[in-house]
Amino acid sequence: MSILFSPLTVRGTTFRNRLWVSPMCQYSAVDGMPQEWHHVHLAQFATGGAGLVMAEATAVSPEGRISPVDTGLYTDAHRDAWAPIVAAIRARGAVAGMQLAHAGRKASTWSPLLPQRGTVPAAEGGWTTVAPSAVPFEGYAAPVALDAEGIDRVVADFAAAARRARDAGFDVLEIHAAHGYLLHEFLSPLSNLRTDAYGGDLAGRARLLLRVIDAVRAQAPDAPLFVRLSATDWAEGGWDLEQTTTVAGWAAAHGADLFDVSSGGLVAHQRIATGPGYQVGFARHVRRGADVPVSAVGMITDAAQAEEILARGDADAIVAAREWLRDPHFALRASTELGADIDYWPAQYLRARPRR
Ligand SMILES: Cc1cc2nc3c(=O)[nH]c(=O)nc-3n(C[C@H](O)[C@H](O)[C@H](O)COP(=O)(O)O)c2cc1C
Repeated sequence: MSILFSPLTVRGTTFRNRLWVSPMCQYSAVDGMPQEWHHVHLAQFATGGAGLVMAEATAVSPEGRISPVDTGLYTDAHRDAWAPIVAAIRARGAVAGMQLAHAGRKASTWSPLLPQRGTVPAAEGGWTTVAPSAVPFEGYAAPVALDAEGIDRVVADFAAAARRARDAGFDVLEIHAAHGYLLHEFLSPLSNLRTDAYGGDLAGRARLLLRVIDAVRAQAPDAPLFVRLSATDWAEGGWDLEQTTTVAGWAAAHGADLFDVSSGGLVAHQRIATGPGYQVGFARHVRRGADVPVSAVGMITDAAQAEEILARGDADAIVAAREWLRDPHFALRASTELGADIDYWPAQYLRARPRR
């Protein structure tokens, strides 16, 4: 029996397997609106057997977009544009997830699909970014430190976007608190120099994340709620695995169901040691230390490797990004490789199913 292809139930929602699609920005939105590209892109992974298809980092406010071509959920028109995409994912048997995001001091940057790098100037459609403190990400424009009112607005924006995501039909919500974006910037002592209730010790730095979890949970009492965390800043004096584990425990007490354990993104001088499954040890540590469900992500590219991570008890689910881009039918292929007898190979494609 394959664990990878066994179902998992989280807060009443059942995933048909544990091989999931990681959020991936496509830098192809117009005024925050997802396009036909997003529809085809996301639906293909559901056809390919994914248990969960997580939509890209989607901004809760216009200034929370990483780039001018990020998706958003800051108006009802965005909700309505997402609804048919969600329906297409669900019609193909996958659970649909939405990653709610605010890019903080890493907002207003050029799309990586363009040759320019760094901050987009106001004259070319950029905007002033916000952060816990007026400390720039190396090479980017300096952000403005959020005041108490600005913090309240961020919480309200996450809540409103969560409401719209649920109304669009998304089953799962994920709060993006990783990769050096706003919520991670509050967590890390390298970017949070505040002396008020939202800075200082770990409880202060985690306060905004916990408020956002409370606000999102209030909008979606029945939905699985995931939190993506960076387990380390990979930099001296930064956010680390022990703080991550402690905060995951607090977040679970506030209603978060599963932790999507990634790493890095806060500072340009990070020194990341990559390799196959390089973040799995972080997931295992959070799972055991905080006694919470986790997903493992990062250079997990084949079925046997994924199965082994689950068999060792290092994670409850496997999340992959680039392998799904190489092969949108990753789960169908993996099921064959593991000899798992799935009943959701698309009938239209059965003639291509390898004989067992
Ligand atoms: C094209 C692309 C876009 C990405 N966009 C996001 C995103 O929107 N949100 C996020 O949390 N991570 C994002 N990531 C990171 C991935 O979700 C994933 O964590 C990372 O690529 C490591 O997994 P992999 O080795 O399976 O690709 C992106 C990665 C890629 C390749």
